[in-house]
Amino acid sequence: MTTVITTGLAFLLTVSLTMGDCPYQECVCRNKDIKCQNQGLDKMPPLIAGSVNTYQVLMIQNNRITSIPDKSIPSGLTEIDFGNNPISDIAPSAFNNSGSTLETLSFTNTRLTQIPDAFLSLTKLTSLTIKNSPLQNWNLDVLKHIGASLRELTLNNVGLRSWPAWIANFPSLTDLSLSNSQLTPIPDTAFNMLTSSLKRLTIVSANLTSIPRALTVLSNLVSLDLSNNSITEVENLPSQSKLESLSLGFNNVSDGPKLVNELSPHAASLTYLYLHFNQLLVIPQLDHMTSLLIIHLDNNKISDPASGLLPSKVINLQLSANNFQAIPNVVRQLNKLTSLFISDNSIQEIRLIDLPVQLSHLDIQNNAVKTLQDNTFPANSSLRTLYLSRNPLASISNSAFKNLSGLDTLTLGNTNLTRVPTALSDLASLNTLDLSQNPRLICTCQEAGLVAWFQARPNLNVLGTCGDDSVHDFFTNLATQCRR
Ligand SMILES: *[C@@H]1O[C@H](CO)[C@@H](O)[C@H](O)[C@H]1NC(C)=O
Ligand SMILES: *[C@@H]1O[C@H](CO)[C@@H](O)[C@H](O)[C@H]1NC(C)=O
Ligand SMILES: *[C@@H]1O[C@H](CO)[C@@H](O)[C@H](O)[C@H]1NC(C)=O
Ligand SMILES: *[C@@H]1O[C@H](CO)[C@@H](O)[C@H](O)[C@H]1NC(C)=O
Ligand SMILES: *[C@@H]1O[C@H](CO)[C@@H](O)[C@H](O)[C@H]1NC(C)=O
Ligand SMILES: *[C@@H]1O[C@H](CO)[C@@H](O)[C@H](O)[C@H]1NC(C)=O
Ligand SMILES: *[C@@H]1O[C@H](CO)[C@@H](O)[C@H](O)[C@H]1NC(C)=O
Repeated sequence: MTTVITTGLAFLLTVSLTMGDCPYQECVCRNKDIKCQNQGLDKMPPLIAGSVNTYQVLMIQNNRITSIPDKSIPSGLTEIDFGNNPISDIAPSAFNNSGSTLETLSFTNTRLTQIPDAFLSLTKLTSLTIKNSPLQNWNLDVLKHIGASLRELTLNNVGLRSWPAWIANFPSLTDLSLSNSQLTPIPDTAFNMLTSSLKRLTIVSANLTSIPRALTVLSNLVSLDLSNNSITEVENLPSQSKLESLSLGFNNVSDGPKLVNELSPHAASLTYLYLHFNQLLVIPQLDHMTSLLIIHLDNNKISDPASGLLPSKVINLQLSANNFQAIPNVVRQLNKLTSLFISDNSIQEIRLIDLPVQLSHLDIQNNAVKTLQDNTFPANSSLRTLYLSRNPLASISNSAFKNLSGLDTLTLGNTNLTRVPTALSDLASLNTLDLSQNPRLICTCQEAGLVAWFQARPNLNVLGTCGDDSVHDFFTNLATQCRR
């Protein structure tokens, strides 16, 4: 007995020693982390005297801490997240204990008004994020000091009123994000010190009316996000770089040919192209952009179904909320396409030629489709999800779903259907059927032929009512009383 207890104690001691002491009584330490979030702390908790910290990450978000005093941070930390604390004061030596180890600091929703002098003790800082904080004093000596090591800088909604010329002191930056700030005019020389280092640049919601000429010198840029500005022309992209991702959603781009021309130098590398919420009138001629996998063109003003050409590698195409009356011709040529989003248009018909065989997800909600015919879906179709809700669908022919043996999810809510389609009996893999909000739907003994199909799939999730009964109840109870 005694032996057992002693062994148990030794085991406990070993465990607590290898895990190290948690440096704060108020927090929980696990794996690499010191977790102090959501503790209602109104000041930094005191360090436990004599504790030797072996943890690396301090998470102290969502408290009410207003200041970080000296000696309140343990040694050996690599990362601290101060998010959602009304911090306004950071003592000059606050970070000294971890000065030679801290790499990542994050301040979101704080009351910081200046770049703190405490950063002067940091020699390894590589990533700094400050968001939604009313910075006023851009302490140049401190910025120069951290500029020597910093690689990732995010300043989002921090009260910048003009272009931060001090960026020239950050020669190793690979990632720069300056969003929700008034930065214009951006000087033509803005990135001259970052020409070969910068890989990812984000300037979102900054009232830009054009793509800054300063960008042209960025020879290693792979990702550019200029969403939610007022850009009308695609120009000044750095032609020497190999862009992989371009985000220009929520702008005012209308000139398709100009766009195509400007993208050409990136034909072999561009993989993601986001142009949702713009003013495009045609699908651009992008067939030479042979690496494109994902294209978002939703929420434009495209109506011509014969416009444009897209490269055959595309797997995901977003065309929702345009003015199409038919599924555009480009779609049928995309023999790798797996997801097509084309909701919120005015498409009247799905034709056999429209859909490539390998398509597995089709969202065509809120269009003008009235009927589904036997020849609507191609043989060996790979469709797994089909969203057809909010179409004025009134008839679905008996064999319409014959080629959809792999369909998992079908939505037919908010249509003009009056009967549960007998075509459902071909859907051997269906798991979810939405027939909700079909006010004209009735269930009669004419559909009793579907009972066997319903009973064979006890896990089928059916939504919707016909008259006073749920469709599910009709098929599990009432329809069995119909005479054969
Ligand atoms: C903290 O570090 C800074 C920069 O290395 C140094 O100047 C300062 O004296 C240190 N403070 C203390 C209290 O050791
Ligand atoms: C952009 O312009 C609008 C309207 O002039 C203004 O309300 C908004 O604050 C500006 N945004 C920024 C980030 O300066
Ligand atoms: C775009 O920016 C405006 C402010 O300029 C903001 O109110 C809006 O939420 C932003 N929209 C998106 C989609 O980011
Ligand atoms: C886009 O352009 C239209 C007119 O061409 C203008 O009414 C609208 O305000 C512009 N939108 C933005 C975000 O600049
Ligand atoms: C299934 O696919 C074939 C070949 O594409 C087509 O001819 C037929 O109309 C489709 N529908 C049915 C119900 O077989
Ligand atoms: C559908 O698949 C079957 C079996 O793999 C094959 O024999 C048939 O040719 C395919 N039909 C079409 C139109 O691809
Ligand atoms: C639904 O069907 C009724 C009766 O056939 C028709 O009068 C009505 O226009 C249809 N509604 C739509 C949106 O097509």
